[in-house]
Amino acid sequence: MARLGIMFTLFATLSLVFSIPAGSSDSSSAPSDTGANQPRFELPQKPTSNMTPLEQRGANLYSYYCTVCHGTKGEGDGINSFQLTTPPAKFADAAFMATLSDADIQKVIRQGGSALDKSPQMQPWGRVLTDQDVAALVAYIKTLSKN
Ligand code: HEC
Repeated sequence: MARLGIMFTLFATLSLVFSIPAGSSDSSSAPSDTGANQPRFELPQKPTSNMTPLEQRGANLYSYYCTVCHGTKGEGDGINSFQLTTPPAKFADAAFMATLSDADIQKVIRQGGSALDKSPQMQPWGRVLTDQDVAALVAYIKTLSKN
């Protein structure tokens, strides 16, 4: 019952929100008691994210493995970044990200910075992450420069 109540409240709130613009454009039509002008019932939707499932998976992996150095928003300011002699890459920097191909990003994640003559302080993750994990991380870190 409690859950039904919450669903109803959610639905009622959503219908209120969506009825405002609809109502203003319909204001010329005469009110009717036939029910034809009643709001149509639509099932409440699950909260949606604008991330694809792959990006969402990448976000989860990123927050577990990568934020300590690269920072929660990809600013290169994770809690461990100050211990490093090479600053971690800033994924939030669109100009920098444009210089990296997907293949390069995958290679660096799997084999570490030294695979591309970068700092070995970017460690290899190939024994920890599956190919799908790596693909998800690539998809996710590319979203960080688009916000
Ligand atoms: C211990 C700190 C640390 C962690 C943890 C870490 N990185 Fe890095 N990463 C670095 C550093 C430092 C660099 C910069 C290397 C350079 O520019 O020489 C870097 C660079 C990169 C680059 C850019 C490589 C390039 O070609 O310039 C990518 C992509 C990357 N990291 C992805 C990740 C991902 C994904 C994770 C999580 C799975 C991760 N890193 C975890 C330290 C870290």
